[in-house]
Amino acid sequence: MKNGFCVWFTGLSASGKTTLSNLLQKALLERGFSVEVLDGDIIRKNLSKGLSFSRDDRNTNIKRIGFVANLLARNGVAVIVAAISPYKNIRDEVRAEIGDFIEIYLDCPLEVCIERDPKGLYRKALAGEIKHFTGIDDPYEVPEKSEVVIRSHEESPQESLARILRTLEILGRIPALHEDGYSEAEAEVIKKRLTDLGYL
Ligand code: ADX
Repeated sequence: MKNGFCVWFTGLSASGKTTLSNLLQKALLERGFSVEVLDGDIIRKNLSKGLSFSRDDRNTNIKRIGFVANLLARNGVAVIVAAISPYKNIRDEVRAEIGDFIEIYLDCPLEVCIERDPKGLYRKALAGEIKHFTGIDDPYEVPEKSEVVIRSHEESPQESLARILRTLEILGRIPALHEDGYSEAEAEVIKKRLTDLGYL
């Protein structure tokens, strides 16, 4: 059985979490992993149905997702989570619980997310029709020790995906293929970051 792990995407709504999750899912399936994606929008329709966006309910949502991710990861599944997960202490709690945990921060400026607004929710939040919307009138605590930081407004999803895959290779989570369009110089930058943060 392959070793499972959890790749956790955190960031504002419309920062690119779902897009990258889907690309990563495809790439990991191609590499022979069993993959499961736990997406906040979908989880909130079943496992977390009825939860609000209060701090307590968001934390309950994240803990539930973390619980399921842990069950899957320990059974060899590559788990991909896409949830805003705005609070640092709960993200860190889930990291400690799962262990095989890689955090990816989608560092996309609020203005760009507002511009993208694929679900029209920012427009409603700015008009005051939705309260407690992350980034508008609810907090997002920026991660300080994410294994990967993606500036999705400055690079293509394919470039981001290549960096994520290379990071997973360097961390020994997936076998190295060296086919993902990443130069040795770029790999050195990744290694330095992971070493500086204490992950290597
Ligand atoms: S989390 O904060 O608990 O991690 P989660 O990722 O599950 O959030 O759900 C976020 C999604 O719910 C958003 O992408 C958006 O579609 C929707 N949503 C509805 N209301 C809010 C809100 N007040 N804040 C953020 N997202 C909201």
